[in-house]
Amino acid sequence: PSNMLVDSFGRFHNYLRISLTERCNLRCQYCMPADGVELSQKSQLLTSAEIVRLANLFVSSGVDKIRLTGGEPTLRKDIEEICFQLSSLEGLKTLAMTTNGLVLTKKLPKLKECGLSLLNISLDTLVPAKFEFMTRRQGHERVMESITAAVEHGFNPVKVNCVVMRGINDDEICDFVELTRKREINIRFIEFMPFDGNVWNIKKLVPYTEILDKVKQRFEGVRRLKDHPTDTAKNFSIDGHRGSVSFITSMTEHFCGGCNRLRLLADGNLKVCLFGPSEPEAVQLELLILELLEPESW
Ligand code: GTP
Ligand code: 5AD
Ligand code: SF4
Repeated sequence: PSNMLVDSFGRFHNYLRISLTERCNLRCQYCMPADGVELSQKSQLLTSAEIVRLANLFVSSGVDKIRLTGGEPTLRKDIEEICFQLSSLEGLKTLAMTTNGLVLTKKLPKLKECGLSLLNISLDTLVPAKFEFMTRRQGHERVMESITAAVEHGFNPVKVNCVVMRGINDDEICDFVELTRKREINIRFIEFMPFDGNVWNIKKLVPYTEILDKVKQRFEGVRRLKDHPTDTAKNFSIDGHRGSVSFITSMTEHFCGGCNRLRLLADGNLKVCLFGPSEPEAVQLELLILELLEPESW
């Protein structure tokens, strides 16, 4: 159909990320300041009805996968209702969520019932004290439990997002990989992105080739799997392991050419690229979407 969301690079956008809230129950060093986090007024945030209405428009324009993100999406009081309504949209194949797993375990059965089909859980360290340092909060145990619980509830694969930072958690790479031996989880090592332009931060970046070398030195039979063209991860299996290992190489090998994502922010703004809305291509796509949003639908 003519209303499909194709941008000027010929990329078909069929994957929408929706940020449900700016709030978070962690304060990861690379993401948030220790205190004084600036948040939008509640009145400026999309209501669940608005989210569903917008999502409906996107789905009727070819979006077939939605990922709920944040901040921390599980902090939304109406999270189950949102999942239920979104998963009921005709044409949507996948409803996914990226969460820090801190308050997830209890909510899992209901979320599954409401149509959530995929889970990515963020965890940067296996050492409780380090978790406290990196996130400035307690709760390591609870995140570990939520990963186990997610697997037990049949989410498959449960993806574990680990942002690798030099001198902080790069000594844990093999410990993370070890988790895939007996469990059907996908550990994803993410290259640290020094967003705030801090020249010192770039020193924390560990290129994926270096991480992969470490993995290959320790484990036998590390094999590259075939990736989907829109996949942001390079995927590997390891002989004898039930789970798998992937690399998200945002810094050393961009995957912009195959990017199929759109981002709806908690305040209703739209971002085509993670790295900001300023390029003309983004503006063009925004205009296209504005055309789709007929005034009476508001
Ligand atoms: P999948 O649907 O499982 O592929 O999810 P995802 O990897 O897109 O989502 P997730 O929220 O788990 O994000 C994991 C990491 O992917 C983030 O930390 C980012 O580093 C990276 N990422 C996701 N989307 C983009 C993107 O469009 N551009 C770049 N550069 N990185 C992205
Ligand atoms: N670099 C890389 N990954 C990041 N994330 C948040 N900030 C950064 C950054 N600067 C990750 C989180 C989470 C995912 C959604 O994004 O750790 O796993
Ligand atoms: Fe940011 Fe995610 Fe950490 Fe929350 S859990 S502070 S949103 S990186």
